[in-house]
Amino acid sequence: MLNQASQIFQSLSTEYIHPTVVIDEPCEIGEGTRIWHFSHVCAGAKIGVGCTLGQNIMVAGGAVIGDNVKIQNNVSVYDGITIEDDVFLGPSCVLTNITNPRSQIVRKKLYEKTLIRRGATIGSNATIVCGVTIGLYAFIGAGAVVRSEVPDYAMMLGVPAVQRSWMSRHGHTLHFDEDNEAICPESKLAYRLNNNKVSCMDLGEDEPLPDELALGKATYSNIKCKEN
Ligand SMILES: CC(C)(COP(=O)(O)OP(=O)(O)OC[C@H]1O[C@@H](n2cnc3c(N)ncnc32)[C@H](O)[C@@H]1OP(=O)(O)O)[C@@H](O)C(=O)NCCC(=O)NCCS
Repeated sequence: MLNQASQIFQSLSTEYIHPTVVIDEPCEIGEGTRIWHFSHVCAGAKIGVGCTLGQNIMVAGGAVIGDNVKIQNNVSVYDGITIEDDVFLGPSCVLTNITNPRSQIVRKKLYEKTLIRRGATIGSNATIVCGVTIGLYAFIGAGAVVRSEVPDYAMMLGVPAVQRSWMSRHGHTLHFDEDNEAICPESKLAYRLNNNKVSCMDLGEDEPLPDELALGKATYSNIKCKEN
């Protein structure tokens, strides 16, 4: 379900498909979704409502993309990849669907599944080696190479990616106290760490953000400076 901020945005910007986009029918493209220059949606693809697909995006026939997903330029979403609602894919990030590709071996029926869960961010130029789940609201840093499961709210960096910290739904480091609770410095939502699993105490993971929390008001560095 879209929050009100997304709905307002959607009503302002009705669906727009640039004339250079190639769309192979049948496929599903939700209301209010915008697709920019030189992109290609293959037959069978499912794209939700209120999404933005940038320039040079390929969506394969077996790919599923939820609502309010933002995909920056130069990204291919291959067969076997499922992207839930509210996911952000940074520019030129790489998704994959065969771990051991060989040109001489046909493995078209053996595509491996990758699931990117609601609210997750994949940083620019990061690579997701297939067969993994990127958890709810997880954050993959720019240039990381992910090859194993990523927990909900985990912030992963490097090659291979390792968990560096926990990040809030608003994309800020969570500092847990002795009671294993943390407050997001931007939203003030409370989080709990229990058995190495983070959850939000104030808002269900599937609930949309209330309007007042869906609009960023301070830069990342501004909030970070205040924290330190
Ligand atoms: C992950 C990210 C949010 C971290 O930001 P941050 O917490 O302010 O990070 P800092 O600059 O304080 O760095 C903390 C440490 O992580 C390292 N680091 C930060 N980002 C890194 C990255 N992408 N890969 C590897 N290491 C990284 C820093 O070198 C530093 O290491 P050190 O403690 O050993 O010196 C940010 O670097 C990032 O990658 N954002 C994604 C941007 C993007 O792709 N946007 C796409 C839309 S335009």
